[in-house]
Amino acid sequence: MSGLPKVELHLHLEGAAPPAFIRRLAAEKHLDISGIFDARGNYRYRDFRDFLKVYEAATSALQTPEDYRRLTLAVLEESAASGVVYSETFLSPDFCGGRDLAAWREYLHAIREAAEEAERKQGIILRGIVTCIRHFGPEKARETALCAAETADHWLVGFGIAGDERMGAPKDFRWAFDCAREAGLRLTAHAGEWGGPDSVRDAVRDLAVERIGHGVRAIEDLALVDELAETGIVLEVCPGSNVALGLYPSFRAHPIAELDRRGVKVTVSTDDPPFFHTTMAREYEELHRAFDWDEGQFRRIARQSLDAAFCDADTRTRVAQKLEA
Ligand code: HPA
Ligand code: ZN
Repeated sequence: MSGLPKVELHLHLEGAAPPAFIRRLAAEKHLDISGIFDARGNYRYRDFRDFLKVYEAATSALQTPEDYRRLTLAVLEESAASGVVYSETFLSPDFCGGRDLAAWREYLHAIREAAEEAERKQGIILRGIVTCIRHFGPEKARETALCAAETADHWLVGFGIAGDERMGAPKDFRWAFDCAREAGLRLTAHAGEWGGPDSVRDAVRDLAVERIGHGVRAIEDLALVDELAETGIVLEVCPGSNVALGLYPSFRAHPIAELDRRGVKVTVSTDDPPFFHTTMAREYEELHRAFDWDEGQFRRIARQSLDAAFCDADTRTRVAQKLEA
């Protein structure tokens, strides 16, 4: 199963940075962030809030467009090795130039150059989704949305919100999402991971998103599950992330299979793979082991993911050929 072609829709670019890569950058810059690593050199954090702090500390080693070019190459090499043929990654103008539009353009240019190189070398196709950060507040999200709107095109295809789901409410970010939508960007929001079913309802109602990042806690309200199935809202499910952060004790206890049985459009992603000791290949292996999902099931999920991708029709056709190859 782990060799099957895969489509990944939920990947934070900085969160995909291998710890050795971040250590090397930090050393080059004489930056001491040794406290975020354990004795074996992996990222160390206690819980979700601490994870966000460690994430931001690791990201502090990424200081230039060139750093992001190298990061993108490293991340796509790993994804391609896992069989990923198409990936959408969250990009943060907050970390890439502090929401300054001219700086953001330079970071974006470097990331896209790396993506082109990876596509030439490994055949993997990347597209970007700008994400604002909930715990940075609605004012910064407006600036982030303006960066996204100014750079929206066939490559920069979406807008979303990540960060601490327990702070603020989706409606506080309505201006940012309206701005992104008017620029032609497709929308997704993290919800239903640390918030319950109502957080999913709020994101769908107040931000008019077509995909939800995680959304798995919808399972606690079967009327909502039916609603998601009927309206075709897509869940970007990251089972390994949820298990690593203690939302569920095991893959077996994860609701992805039940959501799928009840007709919700589920997809499979890694979120922040080295933080959660996972890869797309490992997600497939664990899902196969936990739910006995077979090749047909994984191929159906990959096709469902491609249908939910924010890319244009030409790209979708090219990726479909990769899935069928
Ligand atoms: N969840 C929410 N916010 C994030 C994450 C995540 O997994 N990674 C980076 N920001
Ligand atoms: Zn995420």
